[in-house]
This record gives sequence, C-alpha cells and structure tokens, in this order.
Amino acid sequence: MAMIACKCPQYKVTVVDINPTRIAQWNSDELPIYEPGLEEIIKTARGRNLFFSTEIEKGIKESEIIFVSINTPTKTFGAGAGMAADLQYWEKTARQILKYSGSDKIIVEKSTLPVKTALAMERILTSTNNDLCFDVVSNPEFLAEGTAIKDLEDPDRVLIGSRETPSGLKARDKLVEIYSNWVPEDRIITSSIWSSELSKLVSNAFLAQKISSINSISALCEKADADITEVSRAVGTDSRLGSKFLNASVGFGGSCFKKDILNLVYLCRYYGLKEVARYWEGVVGINEYQKERFVLNMMSSMFNTLAGKKICLLGFAFKANTGDTRESPAIFISKRLLEEMAELVITDPKALENAKTDLDGVDGKVSYIEDPYEASAGCDAIAVMTEWDIFAHLDFEKIYRSMVKPAFIFDGRNILDRKKLFEIGFNVFPIGKPPLTHF
Ligand code: UGA
Repeated sequence: MAMIACKCPQYKVTVVDINPTRIAQWNSDELPIYEPGLEEIIKTARGRNLFFSTEIEKGIKESEIIFVSINTPTKTFGAGAGMAADLQYWEKTARQILKYSGSDKIIVEKSTLPVKTALAMERILTSTNNDLCFDVVSNPEFLAEGTAIKDLEDPDRVLIGSRETPSGLKARDKLVEIYSNWVPEDRIITSSIWSSELSKLVSNAFLAQKISSINSISALCEKADADITEVSRAVGTDSRLGSKFLNASVGFGGSCFKKDILNLVYLCRYYGLKEVARYWEGVVGINEYQKERFVLNMMSSMFNTLAGKKICLLGFAFKANTGDTRESPAIFISKRLLEEMAELVITDPKALENAKTDLDGVDGKVSYIEDPYEASAGCDAIAVMTEWDIFAHLDFEKIYRSMVKPAFIFDGRNILDRKKLFEIGFNVFPIGKPPLTHF
C-alpha cells in the first residue's frame, strides 16, 4: 500500500488495522517491521496520501477499492487442522465490509487464499438486498521479504484475476490502471479469478520445490564427495531451469512456503487427487529431513554428544535482511539442540527480540548476544543459520582464538570460505560438500 501511495499521489490510501499498537508504530519513526528501503517510501507518502488508522468502519465507508490483506494462518482445529487455511478472519472481514459499506466497492484479495475463496466472499457480500455492487478480484502478492521494495518497484509480473462479467472486467481495469502508474503493461497479467488464486499457491510451491530438490541432492553430495555449489551452478546454467533458488541450505523457512504447500496439499486431497497431494507433500518432507539431518550431522561430528557443549547460532531470521523469524529453520534447530542438552548463544543483527519470543518457555540454557564476537567466545561450535552478509566478513582468526578447541563450524548457508576457515584451524562442515577436518 505504501508503494501504491508513493507511486500514485492522486490516490488516497488508508491502511486500517484492529491493532492500535501496530498502527501507532506505523505512524511513528520506529516502524514495526524491518525492511530495507521501506522507511524512505513511508516517509515520502505518509501524511500526504498515505494514512494509518484504527478506524475500520470509516475506512470501509470512504473507500472505493478495499485491499483485504488479513492473515490466513494454517488451521489448528477441526477438519483440515495443520493443513487448510483458517479463514475465520477472512469471513469476519467480509461481513464487516458488508455492514459498513454505503456504496459500490471493488474488493481485492491480497491475502494468499485457497482456490474459490473469492466465491465465499461474493456470497457473503450479496447475502442482503442492499442494491450495492461488490466486485471481488484476486491480486496476489509476489514480493519476498528483504527485497520487498525492489520487488514492488520492479515486479516480474502483477497478476489480476477477475470474473469475466462486464462489471468484473471493469473492476479488473481499475486495478490495471493503478499498477500502470509504474509497472510496464506487458508485466500486468490478467486471468480468471480462480487461475489467479491458484497461481499464487503454485508459484510458492514451485519455488520451495526448487530448494527441496537442491537440498535433497546436497545429502547425496556429502556422501558422493561432490560439491553442491558446483552441481547447482552446472544445473542452473540451463536457461530452462534457471540459477535462482538453487542455494542449498539448512532448510527453507518463512511464513509462506510451508503454509501454502500444505494448503495446496489439502486442496488436492479435497478434490480426491491423492497422488498430486503426495507429490507436493514431499517438498515439505525433504525440508523437515534437511533440518533434522543438520542436527544429526552436528552431533555425529562432535563425537556423538552435544550435552553441555556451547553452540553459537549465527543468525536466527528465516533469511537475511529481515527480522522475521516465522518458521525459521533456526527455531527447529535450537529446540533440537536444547533437547540434546547443548547450551545456546544466539546472535542476529535484527531478529533477537523475535528469537526470544520464539524460544520463550523452552527448557534449556539460551543467551542472546548482539555482538557475534562476544557470542562465539567460549563456544565449542558455530552454526550458521542465516546468510547475513556481515557473517561472511567476520574476523574468524579472532573468533577461533576465543573458542574451545577443537572448534567446529557448521555452515548451514554455505556463505563462509571453508578453506580459509580450515587453514585457521576450524573443523568445517558445509552443506553438500565434503567436510574439512583436522582429525
Ligand atoms: C516467498 C516467495 O519468494 C515470494 O515470491 C512470495 O510472495 C512470498 O513467499 C509470499 O508468499 O509472501 P519469502 O518467504 O519472503 O518469499 O522469502 P524467500 O526469498 O522466498 O525465501 C524463503 C526461504 O527459502 C528462506 O528461508 C530462504 O533462506 C530459503 N532459500 C531461498 C533457500 O534456502 N535457498 C534458496 O536458494 C532460496
């Protein structure tokens, strides 16, 4: 919304939320999330044509177009628990829109939703005879955290799905008009509303599948003395496959991939497509396997016991350039290491507060230290969880001197120079490459 406000000063954009603390943060100098470049965009538009408010009723009444961006977490109860999307907030919002609308509206689905959710929205909105016209269009968001501003400013595509009715097409054109302010027209794709809803889930499933594919091969590389970076370079130069999203890692995280794939799996099961469901379930299965494999590898390399050993986690965010830790592989790894009675020291430039919340109440000894040198001092091992650039440029000679010997490094992101680390004295365990050890 901030980008729309920034690029289109002729529109008034009001962001409403039920949470007053969040809205106060959006109105302050301390934004509630860390995202490179966001602050500048907000500063350009806030108070001019971008407003943050808790007045939901007023926001609905006064707007012609409503972007619904509420959360759709995985259901934790009843049918589809652990897989299907929990649509209770979505439905409540639809009823709220109906209650407070006094004029025709275009409703834009921004949240990632299962296919045919627009139908439920339409049914709720047309459930009373109030003569108002509501057009529901789907406009999924493809930005990734950490690169959100660039993704919004220069998107690969903007997708708009609508009904093929005259008013559906008119609503679609209104959205095309908004994005045309800065996105070239050939990158604005239109489709049926159902294709649009499904494309969002499928895009994330394909991206996650690419990571799970390379991660599965990383396990093979470790056994077969091959190097996953060389394999992914060789594979990725085939333009049909592409080089992006082929970085082997400790596993993918984030609030979207797992949730969206499980949603896709649930949809396939719902429609009786068991084989298709099983195929996509495998992508999540490999991700769980990769995280567990990382812990088991740490244990077997450190003489089959982690009890009482002090381990420094370099990074806790699910990826670099964000403070977000949702579904971060670091959460799973931390819990498993604590189960093995290891002691943890966690360092991250932006995610320490979230890390504290994630591990709140978990048994075991954990400390949180912002300075990576202080964090790693006195540790038996370092495990890289997040590919923050600063970690690649640390003074590892200094770090080595401060650690317990033999010193171990498990590079869950393959960002460190393993040969240099080995020469310093470390025993180095990258992902998908032969380890370099002094034993
Ligand atoms: C993802 C998609 O990339 C976006 O297109 C989509 O809009 C978004 O979900 C969403 O549905 O909202 P995001 O989760 O923010 O974006 O971040 P990604 O860059 O996709 O990274 C996801 C995870 O995969 C991270 O843990 C990252 O470290 C990991 N990853 C990524 C790898 O392990 N290897 C890679 O090669 C790339």
